[in-house]
Amino acid sequence: MDLKELPSNVGDDNISEEANSLISSLPLCTDFQGKKLCNYQGCWYKYNTLQGVLNFQRGFEPQDTDIILASFPKSGTTWLKALTSALMERSKNHSFDHHPLLSDSPHGIIPFLELSVYQESSSPNLAKFSSLPRLFSTHMPLHAMHETLKGSPCKIVYLCRNVKDTLISWWFFRSAVNKIEPNRSLVESTFEAFCNGTIYYGPIWEHVLSYWRRSLENPKQVLFMRYEEMKAEPRDQVKRLAEFLGCPFTTEEEDNGLVDEILDFCSLRNLSSLEVNKTKIFNKVDRSIFFRKGEVGDWKNYLNPEMENKLDMIIQEKLQGSGLKF
Ligand code: A3P
Repeated sequence: MDLKELPSNVGDDNISEEANSLISSLPLCTDFQGKKLCNYQGCWYKYNTLQGVLNFQRGFEPQDTDIILASFPKSGTTWLKALTSALMERSKNHSFDHHPLLSDSPHGIIPFLELSVYQESSSPNLAKFSSLPRLFSTHMPLHAMHETLKGSPCKIVYLCRNVKDTLISWWFFRSAVNKIEPNRSLVESTFEAFCNGTIYYGPIWEHVLSYWRRSLENPKQVLFMRYEEMKAEPRDQVKRLAEFLGCPFTTEEEDNGLVDEILDFCSLRNLSSLEVNKTKIFNKVDRSIFFRKGEVGDWKNYLNPEMENKLDMIIQEKLQGSGLKF
C-alpha cells in the first residue's frame, strides 16, 4: 500500500468542495487496486464514501426505534439483512409468497446509510421509511456514528466474521467487481492491506473492537453476533436476533417450524437462486456476487502457514486485553 500525498482536487464529481478540502488535510493512500483512500477519524474510506459519512454525521436524526445493522464488508451483511427483514416482516407476511425479498435485494430493502442513503443526497427524504422501526445498515465503525447517535437508544446489531475468511471473501468480491480472475498476486496484496490496516473501512480490528466494547458496556443497545456462530447454531442465533430486535418467536411460531422456515428462506442457496438476486445490479455491481460459498474456514484453501501466522500474531496483539478472540 502506497502511502502518499494526493492532490486536493480528487476529481470526483460527487464530492463537495468542503469534503475535498477536508480530504486534502487527511492521511491518504492508494490501495492495492489503485483506489484512493483517506483516513478520517481512524478509518480508511474511499472519497465518495467519506462524503456519505460526512452527510450522515451532519444530517442523520436518529429515532428511538431505529435499528442499524453494522458490519465490516464481507462479514455476512447480506445474510443479516435478509434475516432481519424476514423476522420483522413475519407479522405482515405469513407466507413467503409475496415477501419483499422476492422483489428486492437485501441491500435494497435495508440500505446502507453512508453508501446509499447519504451518498445519494446530503438531505435524503427518509419519509419512505414510514413503517417503524426504520431499518438501516452501515459499514462505518461505531466511533464514526458516536456523535450522531449520542443519547439515542436505537439498537445496533453488529455481525463479526473471522478476519481470514473476511479477507478471502473480500479478495473474491473485488476480483468479481473488477471482472478479473482472483489471482495469487491479488490475494497477496489483499493480505498485506489487511495486515497494514490500510483497507477500505479498516483497520478491521478497530472496526470490530468499536462494536465489541460497546456491546459489553451496553448489551441492550449493541448485539454482537458472529458469522461462525450463525453457521454453527443458526436456530439459537436467529432466536437471539429476534429477541434483540424486539420480535421474539412465540411458542406457537416455534412449534409451527417458523424458525427453520426463515432460515431456509434466507439461506445462501435460496437467496442466490431468486431471480431478483441473479439478474439485477446493486451500486453498479451484479447482485449475484454477494453470494459465493458462505463457508467457515475457506481461508485455509488460499492462505499459506506463513500468512496465517502473521495475521494471527497481528490479531492477537491488536485484540489483547479486549476479551475478544478469533
Ligand atoms: P464468502 O465469500 O466467504 O462465500 P457481505 O454480505 O458482507 O458482502 O458478505 C458476503 C459473504 O457472505 C460471502 O462469503 C457470501 O457468500 C456470504 N453470504 C451471503 N449470503 C449468505 C447467506 N444467506 N448465508 C450465509 N452466507 C452468506
